[in-house]
Amino acid sequence: MSLQDKTVLIGITGGIAAYKICELIRKFQKAGVNTKIVCTPNALNFVTKLTLQNLSKNQVYVEEFDVKDWKPEHISLADEADVMLIAPATANTISKIANGIADNLLTSIACAFSKKMIIAPAMNCNMWNNQSVAENISKLKSRGVEFLEPDTGFLACGYTGKGRLCSIDKIYNTVLEFLEYSQKLAGKKVVVTSGGTIEEIDPVRYISNYSSGKMGFAIAKTAYNMGAEVVLITTKNFGAPFKIVNVKSAIQMQNALDDEFETSDIIIMAAAVADYRVKNYSAQKLKKTSDEELVLELVKNPDILQELCNKNQNKEKIIVGFCAESENLLENAKEKIIKKGCDYLIANDISRKDIGFSSEDNEVTILDKNGGMKHLDKNSKSIISRQILEYIIHE
Ligand code: C5P
Repeated sequence: MSLQDKTVLIGITGGIAAYKICELIRKFQKAGVNTKIVCTPNALNFVTKLTLQNLSKNQVYVEEFDVKDWKPEHISLADEADVMLIAPATANTISKIANGIADNLLTSIACAFSKKMIIAPAMNCNMWNNQSVAENISKLKSRGVEFLEPDTGFLACGYTGKGRLCSIDKIYNTVLEFLEYSQKLAGKKVVVTSGGTIEEIDPVRYISNYSSGKMGFAIAKTAYNMGAEVVLITTKNFGAPFKIVNVKSAIQMQNALDDEFETSDIIIMAAAVADYRVKNYSAQKLKKTSDEELVLELVKNPDILQELCNKNQNKEKIIVGFCAESENLLENAKEKIIKKGCDYLIANDISRKDIGFSSEDNEVTILDKNGGMKHLDKNSKSIISRQILEYIIHE
């Protein structure tokens, strides 16, 4: 893997373990990884700007208003970096970041940073056990920040307990593993669908389903983090650093997929597409009548997945379908993968309340076209996404 074009933004805060980061910068340097250093003013009580500058061979940033050109430093540094590491991270900086406080250059960058963030805390054991600190850490974890737990042992403040910065090797390996992971889908275009389609009856009414679009969004986000060019075709509103195409109906979803098909490498159909749409859309709101019954005529929607698989005769693309069932999950899924002709089918049990629709978690079985099966235990949709993507690219 080429690490030459990768940049790790290292945030150093004011703790005694700051001196250990000098060794970490040297290790990155040896591996050919570019490091940009940003310090809180307090960090400079423990390590000098000159030392960090010499080791990283880059300017060291501390002051927030030391702006060189039109783009403020906190935006430029956030944009340039592939990953942000904060080590050592004090209780103070962790808590500020968790609460969106941006009162120095480091916390401002953290506030503007939307990519992967890894935090290695180091502090006195009582601070580590403080409830506010613990809550702030949980808050950041729930937003996807990875924490490298401190070690237990003799602390610089004289106490013995949990709070020592974890080993430099652990920090180095975690960052390198992430950089490798972030290239797994480099050069690939991944198209994902998500959400339940909306089949309009008239200007105010529609037929849809309970799909929240979260599974497809998690897959799109994970593929993006793995370095893919991503297009998410969705009926829901998501903000993301990749291309989003908003659609409503199955027909619109099919048209959007047709636009992306030729240039795609992997297509993942996580959307819950309506099997039927209203035959005669009424341009005016349907009025209540004296009749006790109203009959809506429906016509079949195209099976988008099946049609895409038919177009993929030379098997150049990997096509993945989802199968949501409330009974006989695996039997139905086995039939479906043959009928649809896709490479993989992700079987989802929607009868369970703790997973699937709207939930943050899922538990699925991946079926492949050769009869293979892999069960993925219940986990967050983001971890399930990683497992699915790694499985289909045989990692
Ligand atoms: O047949 P069933 O709806 O169970 O198949 C689910 C899979 O097929 C999903 O991947 C879904 O996105 C896709 N699908 C489709 N077009 C339809 C119905 C479902 O592409 N009309």
